[in-house]
Amino acid sequence: KKIIAVAMGGYSSEYEISIQSGQLVYDSLSKTQYDVFRVYVTKDKWYYKAGDGSEFEVNKADFSFSDGNNTIHPDVIFNAIHGTPGEDGLLQAYFELIDIPHTSCNYYQAALTFNKRDCLSVLKSYGVHCANAYYLNKGDEIKPEEIIKKVGLPCFVKPSRSGSSFGISKVKTIEELPKAIEFAYKEDAEILIESCLVGTEVSVGVIEYKGEILVLPATEIVSENEFFDYEAKYLGKSQEITPARIPDTERERVKAEAKRIYELLNMTGLSRSEYIIQEGIPHFIEMNTNPGLSPESIIPKQALAAGISLEELFGNLVEQAFE
Ligand code: DAL
Ligand code: MG
Repeated sequence: KKIIAVAMGGYSSEYEISIQSGQLVYDSLSKTQYDVFRVYVTKDKWYYKAGDGSEFEVNKADFSFSDGNNTIHPDVIFNAIHGTPGEDGLLQAYFELIDIPHTSCNYYQAALTFNKRDCLSVLKSYGVHCANAYYLNKGDEIKPEEIIKKVGLPCFVKPSRSGSSFGISKVKTIEELPKAIEFAYKEDAEILIESCLVGTEVSVGVIEYKGEILVLPATEIVSENEFFDYEAKYLGKSQEITPARIPDTERERVKAEAKRIYELLNMTGLSRSEYIIQEGIPHFIEMNTNPGLSPESIIPKQALAAGISLEELFGNLVEQAFE
């Protein structure tokens, strides 16, 4: 029986979300032919947690751990960690160095896409439509007039490397800008300030499935809040409608763009990216290479809408990791 370790947790604000993602992956894969173990990766320690709650520390030399009787050497890691170190390339590089297959994309794609600024810069060079953006690093002088001249109002202030909307603010007046910048710096020393696109927000999963690049049905996001923030994402303050209620031309356009971006970045495995369709044109917002897999998350819903069960979805990622 092949052994899967589902890695969950992480060091970032998205810890709790990752625990929920990891649990759904664990529950789903436990119904398949694999032997599945939950491994918690936290700042303090990495450990396997047995069914009775006992904890066994992971040996970082080869990601092995005891189950109380035997030493377990996972054949593959299902990486369900959002944010650092699971989505920014660090764990990917580590697994690649110690030669254990993992379900994420490769370390470079993870690092690039996790940095919103760098990912946007690369995609813009290929003609992908994106919001206007102004970049700041911690310690830089803040010039509110110059920023607003470039991006207008309202605008969004975002940490470059974060997820689940931690550190993001929508700014409506120039006076609110310094506080929003300070808030974003709590998550990352690199930030971006983007113009506010106006249109329908859609989220699109793309996956390698049975040897093909499969674009999942787009989900339309209707937030009750000012934007699709943490509360809207996880505390019910939004509607997520799959498939999105958009004209067929827009559906085809966003599908083609999602596939093109996946190919341009040489992605593998599962990803989910966000777009705002402004005047019929999909504008890329960001890509998540370890997207949320909790029961509330978008990818599980899109897979089910495409007729793919969760066991198939996660099992397929495991099989591809071996290739
Ligand atoms: N970063 C969260 C988990 C997502 O994209 O789903
Ligand atoms: Mg994200």
